[in-house]
Amino acid sequence: MTTRPEIVLVHGDITAQDTDVIVNAANSSLLGGGGVDGAIHRRGGPAILAECRRLRAGHLGRGLPTGRAVATTAGDLAARWVVHTVGPVHSREEDRSDLLASGYRESLRLAAELGAETVAFPAISTGVYGWPMDDGARIAIRTVREAATAPVREVRFVLFDRAAYETFAAALG
Ligand code: APR
Repeated sequence: MTTRPEIVLVHGDITAQDTDVIVNAANSSLLGGGGVDGAIHRRGGPAILAECRRLRAGHLGRGLPTGRAVATTAGDLAARWVVHTVGPVHSREEDRSDLLASGYRESLRLAAELGAETVAFPAISTGVYGWPMDDGARIAIRTVREAATAPVREVRFVLFDRAAYETFAAALG
């Protein structure tokens, strides 16, 4: 019997979450950026970037492909790990929904492998990468509901503004 994780919505800052895993909306370079990426590196401190650099010097020499996930230390954050994933840039010409779903699914799979019980996600790709919030929320919630995630028992979507929170709440149904 695959237990379904509880889905929790939080209106707040993902770097303030005390979950085992905090998921970063990274880019393929893994060398930082703005938004969630900037906040995680700023608050998590240099240990995170140092480990990202080691990954780039090792098996991720060409960067982290879109839809994949990799874990590092969480540095000074309350979490035990940061799982970095790269969402797709939204495109009107090409349907990249599967890549966005993959980012959530691979991050959950990796968190479960690490033994995490609680995971905090941002709304991946809905900022700089331009994904419409309602579609992003639909894909995020559907993917988590379909994933076999044990031992993960709580998946927390941390929404930065009220509009995003309301959109996710509507998608939860
Ligand atoms: N906590 C929670 N959510 C946040 C935070 C925060 N501290 N900061 C921003 N957000 C929200 C944004 O409002 C947006 O809804 O996270 C969502 C994702 O936005 P981005 O961080 O811009 O991520 P994304 O759209 O996936 O673009 C990734 O942006 O920062 C760069 O290096 C990153 O190149 C990569 C790209």
